This record gives sequence, C-alpha cells and structure tokens, in this order.
Amino acid sequence: MAPDSSNARSMTLTPIAPSMGAVVSGLDLSVPLSEAQAAGIRKALQDHHLLCFRGLEMSAEEQVAFSRQIGALEVFPEEDKTKDENVVYNVANVSPDGEHMAIDDHRVTYQLVNARWHTDSSYRYIPSYCSIMLGIEVLPEDAKGGETEFSNMLMAYDALSPEMKARLEPLFMVHYYEYGRRLYPQLPPVSHHERVHVPPTCHPLVRVHPDRDNARSLFITVNAGNEISGMSLEDGQALHAELQEHISRPEFRYSHRWQAGDLVIWDNRVVLHRAAAYDMGKYRRVFRRTTVAGDGPVLGPFSQAIQG
Ligand code: OGA
Ligand code: MN
Repeated sequence: MAPDSSNARSMTLTPIAPSMGAVVSGLDLSVPLSEAQAAGIRKALQDHHLLCFRGLEMSAEEQVAFSRQIGALEVFPEEDKTKDENVVYNVANVSPDGEHMAIDDHRVTYQLVNARWHTDSSYRYIPSYCSIMLGIEVLPEDAKGGETEFSNMLMAYDALSPEMKARLEPLFMVHYYEYGRRLYPQLPPVSHHERVHVPPTCHPLVRVHPDRDNARSLFITVNAGNEISGMSLEDGQALHAELQEHISRPEFRYSHRWQAGDLVIWDNRVVLHRAAAYDMGKYRRVFRRTTVAGDGPVLGPFSQAIQG
C-alpha cells in the first residue's frame, strides 16, 4: 500500500505501567495505514505487549479494515454471537438492537467466562496473535469494576522458582473450548459446528518465543481447562491452581479502566487478561472485538524449531 500523505505523522508511544502498555498518539486510524505504519504498530506491540489508542469512533467495518492491516483475522467458532460478520465479536450485555439484556441471557452469561484469566482462542491449535477491542459503551467513572485486567506472562515465568521452572519444562496443558461452557451448565451444549471447528488441543505450559531470542513465558488459561497432560487429574489440577495464584500477582498486572473510544490491542502470546466483575444488571457495557490470527503453533522447550 502506498504511503498516505494524510497520515504522515509518526506515532508517539507513552508507557502506561511497569508491567506493560503504551498509549499511542499521532496516528489517524480512520485512513489506511502504510505498511511501514502497520509494521510500526506491530513493533510497538512487541515492545509494550498492550497498546491503547484513545478517542476513536469506529464502525465495525472500519475496525475490521484496521485490524486486517495488523494481520489476518480469526473467524469465531460460535455461530450465534455475531452481528453481521463472524470476524466481529460483540462483547456486550446489550443486544445488537440496543436492548440491555438480562443477566441470565446466554449472550451475557458467555461473558462470565471472560472473568477468568485467559488468552484469547488458546483452545485453537494455532492460538491468536493479538486481540483488538473497542470500548463503545463503558461504565461511568464512579461505578465499581468493569475494567479489563492484564497480566504479563514473560514476567510471571521469570519470577518462578528454578524448581518450578524445571517442573514445568516438559508439561503441556489441555485447552478446550467446551470447558468454558461447562463452567456455566445453563449455557447450551457446544454445537456440531463448534465441536468440529475447535477440538481439544494441548500447548506447552512454557512458551518459547523465537521472535524474542527464545525468551520464555507461562502459557496458561483458567477458562479453557485445568488438566495437565501426563499428570494425574488430581495432581494436574493442583499444579494448575498453584499457577493460577502465581499469575495473579500484582507486579505482573495492569488494569485498564475504559473510556469510550479506547481501542486496546493486546498480545495474546505473552499476556493474559480477564474482565473485572461489575453490576451487569445496572450498567450497560459494550465492546467490539476483532482477533488477529497467530502464525504457527505454540512452541515449547522441546519443539524441533527451538532445539534446532
Ligand atoms: C474478550 C474479553 C474482557 C472484558 O472479549 O476476549 O476477555 O473486559 N473481554 O470484557
Ligand atoms: Mn478474552
């Protein structure tokens, strides 16, 4: 794509928190980015793990067009949660027609699954690269909760004891889409479409990043399983619970308090996130998310690509 003279200003990055994040200014996202600008955003995401653009008004079409400049989009496995395109996921307790939905509406219950630490689409054989979420209706300033919390898994891995690092080295976690459903038995069973498109998969607990000089992160989720491959169910779940404690430590975290018009991009390969509880009956909360696909399976210490 040719450079666009209306978008010639370079971007400015202002770090947000010690664990991650930068506010990006100086880029107009309403016009197409040059390839150099898109690469600049990917580089900033690589360095900061989370980026926030402020004050945006974006239609779904504009968000999809922007997101596609960052990379190819994932198609969501659910058939029933989307508006027009299944690359757009409405994270909302408000229906597409603007009705504030009841707490027991399935479309709202699904979001309770997001309240547990996770990384988007870890239930896929190739999990996502990053998620891009726009705050459309957010909680008022004085309301309690409703933030999205993030936790840096490069830091979490580094902070493990040498004994725990050695213990985790050969282990895999089982990730499956259906697990989130089972947490809320009132949700409908997974459909044939979902079962076929996202079968259970295993990923190394220790993720190795060739794009970071083989740095390691903890790759775990609390909403897509709790079983550790090769361990007894009981021992695996005990280890999973111990790691769940660890990833919640405040020094790894950043809590994003949303303003309407925030567009937040996070790197699902190295950060976890979760939605902070809020009064769903009282407040409307509307986000729109697109998800950029990953470029290969999760690599671990014993992957051939790592061992050479
Ligand atoms: C998501 C998600 C968090 C939130 O949409 O993937 O985890 O704060 N959302 O709603
Ligand atoms: Mn999520």
